[in-house]
Amino acid sequence: MFEGKTIGFIGGGNMGEALIRGLISASVLLPEQICVHDVLASRMDHLHKVYSVRPASNSAQVAAESGILILAVKPQVMSRVLDELRPHLDHRPLVISIAAGISLEALSASLPPDCPAIRVMPNTPALVLEGASALSRGSHVTTDQMDQAMALFRAVGSAMEVEEKWMDAVTGLSGSGPAYFLLLMEGMIDAGVLMGLPRPVARDLVAQTALGSARMVLETGKHPAELKDMITSPGGTTIRGLSVMEAAGVRGSLMRAVEAATLRSQELGKR
Ligand SMILES: NC(=O)c1ccc[n+]([C@@H]2O[C@H](COP(=O)([O-])OP(=O)(O)OC[C@H]3O[C@@H](n4cnc5c(N)ncnc54)[C@H](OP(=O)(O)O)[C@@H]3O)[C@@H](O)[C@H]2O)c1
Repeated sequence: MFEGKTIGFIGGGNMGEALIRGLISASVLLPEQICVHDVLASRMDHLHKVYSVRPASNSAQVAAESGILILAVKPQVMSRVLDELRPHLDHRPLVISIAAGISLEALSASLPPDCPAIRVMPNTPALVLEGASALSRGSHVTTDQMDQAMALFRAVGSAMEVEEKWMDAVTGLSGSGPAYFLLLMEGMIDAGVLMGLPRPVARDLVAQTALGSARMVLETGKHPAELKDMITSPGGTTIRGLSVMEAAGVRGSLMRAVEAATLRSQELGKR
């Protein structure tokens, strides 16, 4: 799908590196097909040493060489990056932005007319190739280009297309979601320690339990409630634990957390 093509990265931080690692380890791209520019020379040295990708001394060079350009910089610097890039996009590469809160409208307004753009919300488990990414396409994106973008993000986990109007909810759910699960895990590990388990034992048991539960949902296709009922016997241990969680309003807290994060994403997008 990407034979003979160069994919350029502007920004080689956490997310940029996760994508580069996933694309190379999944053999979607060869290292020589990836060209990166980061303002930090140390980041480019690192990426070159570890993944053998090609460093570029400026964003114009990446733009000129690339058929697909991935913008992996923080939202605050995006308008400056787009100003730098704009004069170098006459060949109309596919521009993919992973910056939180930057709309397709704002992105397209900073690109040359008809330049195809895709907005993506990935999440940090992409670092271990288990990310969940949602993609929204702009108006000039062809089916082939969308297929290519999906293939790029599937290299670091799962990817689905969503309407852009859902992006704030996606940000509040799966973008911020790893933090919610990590907080629950931290609480469970402490609970294990409270009950006398050594911390490393509690940590490994909790992490594997989280992983296993997620895989059961994905692999059986069953509703989480059905899987929960399977381990909740009448008068047993699990129902005692669940009754405490229900009394504490864990479900309601999760709903309010996702709602609050979604509203914050909407606010940030309006700035
Ligand atoms: N991490 C997440 O959970 C997550 C989830 C979804 C989406 N995202 C999005 O992914 C994007 C990247 O996040 P990240 O966590 O990878 O950030 P990061 O680790 O800070 O990486 C961004 C890199 O780009 C560099 N940079 C800044 N300005 C540049 C320029 N003009 N040209 C080239 N490189 C430049 C930064 O250097 P300096 O450090 O010197 O600025 C940094 O090395 C963000 O827009 C974020 O919204 C992140």
